Amino acid sequence: QLMKVFVTRRIPPEGQKLLSQAENCTVQQWDSDDPVPRAELLKGVAGAHGLLCLLSDKIDQEVLDTAGPNLKVISTLSVGFDHLAINEIKTRGIKVGYTPDVLTEATAELSVALLLATCRRLPEAIQEVKSGGWKSWSPMWMCGYGLSNSTVGIIGLGRIGLAIAQRLKPFGVKKFLYTGRQPRPESATEVNAEYVSCEKLTEDSDFVIVSCSLIPETEGMCNKDFFQRMKKTSVFINISRGSAVNQEDLYQALVSGQIAAAGLDVTTPEPLPTTHPLLGLKNCVILPHIGSATYSTRNTMSVLAVNNLLRGLAGQEMPSELKL
Ligand code: GLV
Ligand code: GLV
Repeated sequence: QLMKVFVTRRIPPEGQKLLSQAENCTVQQWDSDDPVPRAELLKGVAGAHGLLCLLSDKIDQEVLDTAGPNLKVISTLSVGFDHLAINEIKTRGIKVGYTPDVLTEATAELSVALLLATCRRLPEAIQEVKSGGWKSWSPMWMCGYGLSNSTVGIIGLGRIGLAIAQRLKPFGVKKFLYTGRQPRPESATEVNAEYVSCEKLTEDSDFVIVSCSLIPETEGMCNKDFFQRMKKTSVFINISRGSAVNQEDLYQALVSGQIAAAGLDVTTPEPLPTTHPLLGLKNCVILPHIGSATYSTRNTMSVLAVNNLLRGLAGQEMPSELKL
C-alpha cells in the first residue's frame, strides 16, 4: 500500500531527485518557490502519512487534525522547530526529523559576515559611495567598532554558537562569555569561554550574539531591560529567531543610542514589511534569514530532510530525529 507524502515547496535539486526516486510513496508537492497557501497546505496534508515542511509553514493543531491519524512523520528542512506544535506532535506519537549539524558552518559564516557588516557599517558605507556621500578620506568618518581586543558574549553556546566563536577568535577577541540553560564545559573549553548570567553577559560584552533556540524561556528575552544593560558602544546580533527579540524595545535602543548597532538575520514577522521602522535606521543591518543559504548546504539539508522522511516512514531510524 502506497503511503502519501506532502511536500510544501520545491526543494533543492539533490533532495528533489531523491524524492523522485522514492518507492512506496505517492508524493504530492506544492510545486512552487512561493509559500504554500494555508488552504493548500490543509488540502495537501489530509490523510498524509508524511509531511516535509519548511520553517515558514506553521504546523499547528489544525494541520495535525486535518492530516488525521495516518500522519507518522514530519520532516522539517531546518534546524529550528518553533514552527511545529511540539507538544501536540509528541502526544500523537509523530516522529520529527530536522537538519542540525549540516548547516552549522554556513550559518556561523553568515553570522560573522553579518557581525562585521554591522560593526564596520558596510551597508551604510556602500550607500555613501553610491550616493556621492564619499567626499574625501576623512579621519572621523564611517568609524565603527572592531573585534580586536573585544569581549564577545554568546547566548546559546550550542553547535552554531560554538562555530561562531571559533570563527571570531582569530580576529583577536580578548574574551568570550556565554550563557544558556546550563554550562557547556566541553564547548566552553574550546574557545576559553566563561559561563555567566545573562545580566553579566549583556553588561560586559562589546558584541552580544543570540544563537539559542526559540523556546518559551527565550521568547522576548531581548527586551528593554536587556538593551539597557548593554554598553552604548556595543553591537547586538540575532541569528536565532525574531521572537527572541522585542523589536519595539530594540528600535528604541537603537534610536536613543542605548546600543551602537544591531544586525539581524531574523525578524518578526518574516518577511519584514518594507515600511518597518527598523529599516529606516542606518545602524540596523537586516538580512532576509539567509544563515544556511549556500548552494551546497541547502542541497545537503534537502537530502537529509528527504532521508529523514523516507526512513521514518519505513520505520527505520532517521539520520536526524528530533528527540521529543
Ligand atoms: C534556520 O533558521 C533553520 O532553522 O534552519
Ligand atoms: C540555551 O539556549 C542553551 O544553549 O543552553
